[in-house]
Amino acid sequence: MKLTKIFALTAALLGTVTLSAQHKSTVTINGAQANGTIIPKEIYGQFSEHLGSCIYGGLWVGKDSEIPNEDGYRLDVLNALKNLQVPVMRWPGGCFADDYHWRDGIGPQSERPYISNNNWGGTLEDNSFGTHEFLNLCEKLGCEPYISGNVGSGTVEELSKWVEYMTSDAHSTMADLRRKNGREEPWKVKYLGIGNECWGCGGQMRPEHYVDVYRQFAGYCRNYGENRLYKIASGPSDYDYNWSETLIKGIGSNMDGMSLHYYSVRDWNKSKGSATVFGEEDYYLTLAKALDIETPIKAHIAILDRYNPEGNVDLLVDEWGTWWDVEPGTNPGHLFQQSTMRDAIVASLSLDIFHKYTRRVKMANIAQVVNVLQAMVLTKGDQMILTPTYHVFEMYKVHQDAEFLPVSYNTDANAVGVGESVPCLSVTASRKDGVVNVDFTNTDLKNSNEITLTWTNLGIDPKNANVEARILTADKVTDYNEFGKPAKVAPKEFKKIKTSKDGITFTLPAMSIVAVSIK
Ligand code: AHR
Repeated sequence: MKLTKIFALTAALLGTVTLSAQHKSTVTINGAQANGTIIPKEIYGQFSEHLGSCIYGGLWVGKDSEIPNEDGYRLDVLNALKNLQVPVMRWPGGCFADDYHWRDGIGPQSERPYISNNNWGGTLEDNSFGTHEFLNLCEKLGCEPYISGNVGSGTVEELSKWVEYMTSDAHSTMADLRRKNGREEPWKVKYLGIGNECWGCGGQMRPEHYVDVYRQFAGYCRNYGENRLYKIASGPSDYDYNWSETLIKGIGSNMDGMSLHYYSVRDWNKSKGSATVFGEEDYYLTLAKALDIETPIKAHIAILDRYNPEGNVDLLVDEWGTWWDVEPGTNPGHLFQQSTMRDAIVASLSLDIFHKYTRRVKMANIAQVVNVLQAMVLTKGDQMILTPTYHVFEMYKVHQDAEFLPVSYNTDANAVGVGESVPCLSVTASRKDGVVNVDFTNTDLKNSNEITLTWTNLGIDPKNANVEARILTADKVTDYNEFGKPAKVAPKEFKKIKTSKDGITFTLPAMSIVAVSIK
């Protein structure tokens, strides 16, 4: 990538500029370099918290609602999520998790206690969505549940009994209570988080203290029957390498995974900026921040490699995404934001990075699934819209459990300010069932890129290849989908691809994501 470096240097000298030449990139895939690495489907995980209208009004409206629903789950959202093939869903938080007492959310809904959701705007939480409602939702979606346990304000006994309630097939008070509440068979629950952000809202702990807390809580979370827990420690935020080092030294492989939280926020002490009103520089700075997730991913992996050479402790990016100021007029504690073409590009760049590190990165959960932060769908009353980010997840779902294909390519870079640049092109590829899927993201707002894709050793003769493609783009980077209006950002068929004896060529329009499938 020498070219990238040259452009970055020029950019640094010139200050904030954007290059205006049309780009030209050659992308090469050599199938012989593929080594069977599978992109775990869990990279496409979701996160659902009792926060704003993620659960109430978003996923759940209750059986008596006039909004069309199936057993209380709103049908439009359910169907949209089924189409995404959600592999895993994290719940009930977030910060809410360390305030959540699971016994409040079982039994007849009318008898459940109500509380104030003190993390998120003091909203009434009537506990009508609890353990049964969440685990049954996962069954409907065909996804793995990821339970985030309360360590900050809960007890060891409470978490231990929650696991027993959900997963035991024995004759015991907890399992019988579950049966009395209408569920005979235990659920399968694999992923169990031992606290959330224990350095912050989950207990304000020092890492040394959390190590001991983790060991104590995890020790009482048992495997019942066939169920096997995969225990996840509350890992670092961003670049906190001391937290991850202390955890891996003190917990070692007593944890199956360690979480990492990373939001594309440049400065937590300043306004996060509008989701929909922003300029070019803001756009590129956001992409630079999103791309910089690679820095902590690499560094935390290096720490894991040092203390866990066996490689059996994974890194799970279980919160990531954009975080903007809330939509004007909405509750500041509800984190309801719109999603533009900028968010779509953040999503594709982030997924491209996760694909490269699946040796350790085995799961990622975008924050959050409905109505909160970089959501897949937004709802208002009985209306629902699919966000540009939804479309990226939908276009990329072909990569779930597919074989990763290393790709090499040259790219120019757009300068974004002092010392920062954003590569114009990002490419990711995988293969499954004889189909090769390649995604191209052009981050440049103004210039297209003349793409030549060639490949060898893929068992597909370019001359006879069957090539199909879709494109996600917009007239303006600030475009988003609005309630009651035709969608401005939605994928369309992309027919402008030429095949040759070596591969394919096409013009990748400015600010676009093109998903190509070759067989
Ligand atoms: O996703 C919103 C919040 O961000 C979560 O509750 C918390 O874990 C993180 O700080």
